[in-house]
Amino acid sequence: MENEKHCDPTVYIIFGASGDLTWRKLVPALYNLSLGGWMPEKFEVIGMSFDEMSDEKFRDHLREGINQFSRRGKVKEEEWPKFAECLHYAKVDLNDAKIYKDLAKRLAALEKKWGAEANRIFYLALPPGMVASVARHLGDAKLNEMRQRVRLVVEKPFGHDLASARDLNHLLTEIFEERQIFRIDHYLGKETVQNILAFRFGNALFEPIWNRQFIDHIQITVAEEVGVGHRGAYYEKAGALRDMIQNHLLQILCLIAMEAPVSFDDNEIRNKKVDVLHAIRPIRPDQVQRFAVRGQYGAGQINGHSVKGYHDEENVAEDSFTETFVAAKFYVDNWRWQGVPFFLRTGKRLPARISEILIQFKPVPHQTFPASATLDLRPNRLLIAIQPEEGILLRFQVKKPGPVMHLSPVMMQFYYREAFKVAPPEAYETLLLDIMKGDATLFLRKDQTEAAWSVIAPIMQVWNEVRSADFPNYQAGTWGPEAADTLIAQDGISWITPTPLHCQGDTAVCGITTESRI
Ligand code: BG6
Repeated sequence: MENEKHCDPTVYIIFGASGDLTWRKLVPALYNLSLGGWMPEKFEVIGMSFDEMSDEKFRDHLREGINQFSRRGKVKEEEWPKFAECLHYAKVDLNDAKIYKDLAKRLAALEKKWGAEANRIFYLALPPGMVASVARHLGDAKLNEMRQRVRLVVEKPFGHDLASARDLNHLLTEIFEERQIFRIDHYLGKETVQNILAFRFGNALFEPIWNRQFIDHIQITVAEEVGVGHRGAYYEKAGALRDMIQNHLLQILCLIAMEAPVSFDDNEIRNKKVDVLHAIRPIRPDQVQRFAVRGQYGAGQINGHSVKGYHDEENVAEDSFTETFVAAKFYVDNWRWQGVPFFLRTGKRLPARISEILIQFKPVPHQTFPASATLDLRPNRLLIAIQPEEGILLRFQVKKPGPVMHLSPVMMQFYYREAFKVAPPEAYETLLLDIMKGDATLFLRKDQTEAAWSVIAPIMQVWNEVRSADFPNYQAGTWGPEAADTLIAQDGISWITPTPLHCQGDTAVCGITTESRI
């Protein structure tokens, strides 16, 4: 364990450090890592942005961010000064070549002071339009050298479509080696998402039935209660297909569908995942209508509060055609999954923030019991809950107590919080630590990003050409447009409505065990 905790001296250089990501996610994650004893003794953050700020002001601002967003609650007075000392800020013009030369000198001086070579992690917490230019400047200032310990972190969206992702990959790999580039998909840092690997490949029980012979279909739902908030300008150009399906949901699909890796090596796992993307059956433009549905929220009610429709959000065009909901069906054309539909759906302003994966097994092949015993018979179902509560639930049949044979479904349940008595780390904690360690397993490789864009390209193309005539087509606080139900109904199936799991203290009180959920 102590060995696992060892990290080399590290400098995180965050470009765009006055922005939201640093405030809400990055620094709270670094702080929690530091509380957990995961940070190296020699550690520093150099934040860089256009905004004017002193070190002191930067620290106060970040402290407030931790108070608001850290999973461990407010800053601990006795721990703060030591951590705050590591936080530095510089107001810079990122278009000015000189600042990169100065940065190189500053890093060299820091390493001299430490008497040690440090990991230099350049974190681009920047709008997508600035990524290429900052990467070029880093290369020009020779800050890309020292390949073993220099890393570049790029946030999503990674490109806007296949062509732009290819261009960006081409540019970045001219300056950095692929192993230096860490493309973030924060869903891969979520504990339960990683647990899919543990569950599938750490147990002998499930893998033999994890295929077309036993599985009927799979549903992956990532539902959000929030609207677009202040991100209207970005979202107008993205939409739910680019913002969520291209990355988070397809990555989850890959983890569910991939073949068993030979080892836990980062490239081995990424090879297996990219195989899935390559196996996804291309959707022809004339099939898009049958395979994908889009929606946009209108005004409605969530948890008893009125919320506005997408058109009325800040920085959103009144006649916007941007989708805030997508449901889609994919097939993975290989031996394991031939003919098994994967249904994906995601949307904003749905009734709850809840993400889950549902594996629906086929009915038993032969009916042993008399019809009177099987009125309640339901095929096995496995549910992997990702958020807000994390857990795994398995439905199976038992005999109802009584003198006659009646079968009844029950749930076997596992909740992280209940089993381990701790709240799992935030995704960014895992990811930032992995970057320090140089472990790229949970990051997207060049070919993965491009393959994921190829999967959604036909849908993007058709939706671009044919604008939706019925937006807004779902009310905020509902489960999306009717067309999403029709999409899945073509296969004689319906969406399973997620119910949040609730944990009270360490004990799970689970909506899911109610009769309707089973
Ligand atoms: C981001 C999207 O990648 O993921 C956002 O850009 C979305 O639109 C967010 O709200 C959801 O993340 P999480 O971790 O809250 O489910």
